Amino acid sequence: MLFGKTILITGVASGIGARTADLAGQMGADVIGIDIREPPHGQISFIKGDISTAAGIEAIVRQLPKRIDALANVAGLSGNTGITKTLAVNFYGLRALSEAVAPRLREGGAVVNVASIAGYGWRANLERAKTLTAVEGFPDIESLVAKHGLKNEEGYPLSKELLLLWTMQAAHLPLFKNAGIRVNAVSPGPVETPILTQFRAVLGDERVDSDIARVGRAGTSADIAPAVLFLCSDGARWINGANLAADGGLEASINAEVLGF
Ligand SMILES: NC(=O)c1ccc[n+]([C@@H]2O[C@H](COP(=O)([O-])OP(=O)(O)OC[C@H]3O[C@@H](n4cnc5c(N)ncnc54)[C@H](O)[C@@H]3O)[C@@H](O)[C@H]2O)c1
Repeated sequence: MLFGKTILITGVASGIGARTADLAGQMGADVIGIDIREPPHGQISFIKGDISTAAGIEAIVRQLPKRIDALANVAGLSGNTGITKTLAVNFYGLRALSEAVAPRLREGGAVVNVASIAGYGWRANLERAKTLTAVEGFPDIESLVAKHGLKNEEGYPLSKELLLLWTMQAAHLPLFKNAGIRVNAVSPGPVETPILTQFRAVLGDERVDSDIARVGRAGTSADIAPAVLFLCSDGARWINGANLAADGGLEASINAEVLGF
């Protein structure tokens, strides 16, 4: 499904991004990895770069080939470094990179955003999400946080709420739609990667353990990578603006509780 395709993957130095890069390579894709840290093994083309600033993104894009088949936005922060940095990496930087890469994506290409079950609240917080996604370009996030009175602990869930809303919006934006580029999201539940330890510190063990208990185990990077790559592939050619829960049934379980069925 991916043979001969060029796939750009962020966050390849660890966890889900590393596994997605390995699997894409095994499936015959040419992978270009991006991360702020060096990946542990050097089998893929790698661009060391920082997606948390406009300058960092410009430097990355300058090094990219003219034609790319898919962009998998996997890099993310847990929120433990504060709301400003978390919004910069998980949403505004991700969006700026996607917009900058769009002209290089071929017709029928794809953007896949790794969101999270933590973004579940986007409907409940819709007005806030609409306001914050309507801010164009790479904003001064510190001022935005102050203006809207956003709290540090809201950083991670908010970043994923914005990402889920933007995924649906982007699927209909001329920049992507007119070029035949699909934009979708994958939302994992808890996954055994280094970030999970940070979630335990930010959210508390009780919350993480109760999410895991609902579905029997935590996910692994190997559970998430195939979902990301399916959405990158032509097999998903009629899937656009969708959010694929890759969580062992966690979202369904929360829906049952919230909606009372
Ligand atoms: N692990 C989980 O429980 C879980 C659950 C839901 C969603 N997610 C999401 O999955 C994605 C991948 O997370 P993971 O579990 O593999 O975590 P991870 O910490 O193992 O990997 C994240 C990667 O992103 C990179 N990164 C961070 N800041 C960057 C920057 N400014 N520029 C470039 N790269 C940067 C890191 O260096 C790291 O390699 C994240 O978006 C995360 O929010 C993870």
